[in-house]
Amino acid sequence: MSIHSRRDIITEEVSVKALKQVTLAAVLGALSMTALAEIKPFEAVEYRKGIFKAVKWQFGPMGDMVKGKIDYDAEEFSRRATNLAALSHMPLEGFRAGTYASSTSALPSIEDDWQTFADTMTQFQNNTAALQQAAASGDMKTIKPAFITVARTCKSCHDKFKD
Ligand code: HEC
Repeated sequence: MSIHSRRDIITEEVSVKALKQVTLAAVLGALSMTALAEIKPFEAVEYRKGIFKAVKWQFGPMGDMVKGKIDYDAEEFSRRATNLAALSHMPLEGFRAGTYASSTSALPSIEDDWQTFADTMTQFQNNTAALQQAAASGDMKTIKPAFITVARTCKSCHDKFKD
């Protein structure tokens, strides 16, 4: 390969890169994406509420199966347990400074006692991971106690940190 053609290839690569960057900027602009630092308090509140809505969406039918209100479906239960375990890692970043005043039922004690709140969220992550594992057994005798442990984690956090 001659030096000249090699330079052509490099130039081409650079311009493809530049094009990709321009395209990404245009796409992000169209989605009106903002940098994390520019997030407004209401956006953080909407974000965490949205995650908890999804948590409820997944957890509700699991509870109905554990209680025998609807038939236990091992595949569905497992899928929801996997979703729940993934969701458990998402709310914490929505609890930002200055987001406890309006349109929220999160208590300001979250900010004052951040370590306890973050630790409870870690328990939530561990307990939903354990539930996901129990779900894989396909055995309600194994699943039920793991489910109850998660439900207690929801309640203990809400009792302390939610209106
Ligand atoms: C570590 C603390 C914590 C854990 C664990 C937790 N929550 Fe919450 N949850 C909160 C807080 C704080 C709010 C209030 C969020 C807000 O209004 O800004 C909330 C809000 C909610 C909401 C209301 C969302 C809305 O529509 O505004 C639902 C539903 C909910 N949680 C369900 C659950 C369920 C079900 C679990 C367990 C499977 C759970 N949460 C576990 C802290 C927690």
